[in-house]
Amino acid sequence: MSDPLFSVADQIVIVSGGSRGIGRAIAEGFAQRQAHVIVTGRDEATLKTACDEMESQHQVTPMVCDVAQRSHIDDCVTQVIERFGRIDTLINVAGVNRRKPALDVSEDDYDFIVDINMKGAFLFSQAVGRQMLQQESGSQINIASLNTDRPLRNVLPYATSKAAMAQMTKALALEWGDRGVRVNALAPGFILTDLTQKLWSDETMQAWGRANTPQRRLGVPDDMVGTALFLAAPASAFMTGQILYVDGGFTAGWAWPIPE
Ligand code: NAI
Repeated sequence: MSDPLFSVADQIVIVSGGSRGIGRAIAEGFAQRQAHVIVTGRDEATLKTACDEMESQHQVTPMVCDVAQRSHIDDCVTQVIERFGRIDTLINVAGVNRRKPALDVSEDDYDFIVDINMKGAFLFSQAVGRQMLQQESGSQINIASLNTDRPLRNVLPYATSKAAMAQMTKALALEWGDRGVRVNALAPGFILTDLTQKLWSDETMQAWGRANTPQRRLGVPDDMVGTALFLAAPASAFMTGQILYVDGGFTAGWAWPIPE
């Protein structure tokens, strides 16, 4: 990208949960624009294949890191600093969901979701934040959700974790704003990925999703790339603690069936 205002060239960028879906699209979007991208996930072989397949200017680095394990996060951050000397952007994408009514949520369901979506994101932000504060520069981008603002039915632990992510975003922005580190979030609308494919293959769901999205379509992972680049680039230098909805207008208002 030639305009420095929107450039991420030569940035060192960590994407958690980047082997597929939204994380993969964002990782490739940065890699295509000359960032050095480190893609993390749980499975070494899957990660390597994903990185090899990405179109990129510099080599994309796969790094095993289960965000539910603190030692993995610490090792990953140490390795990135040893190899690249700094971290410019962290994108917390790793996330999971188990959809069921509140009464059926087991303790294991609750811990599984919260440990990855909420605690894992915090531990990654904290470990990378230490380095960014030392550098006095950096941008962190958390992938939140429509559930951040108002919950959808039957996803209580997920909605709880994504609401917490917004508070974490704002709380870190408050603490780190005067030390050169920005923290923002992107809240995707309904994006077709492995996480949601089954849900949206139901015709009633598809019709509801399209009817309630002003742009009249569901999103695809590539829809998330532009705003992620923006939040990492100098163009957003005076923005921190914000949650940007990238949802085709879903949260803009109510699509009631009033006759034209
Ligand atoms: P996905 O299931 O395709 O990708 C999730 C990624 O996270 C995968 O690469 C997976 O391996 C990784 N991951 C899961 N647990 C992990 C762990 N313990 N450690 C490291 N990596 C782990 O899902 P999708 O849809 O791409 O979701 C990405 C993020 O976007 C999630 O945080 C999700 O909550 C969020 N999101 C997705 C929406 C959608 O409609 N697809 C809507 C709103 C938010």
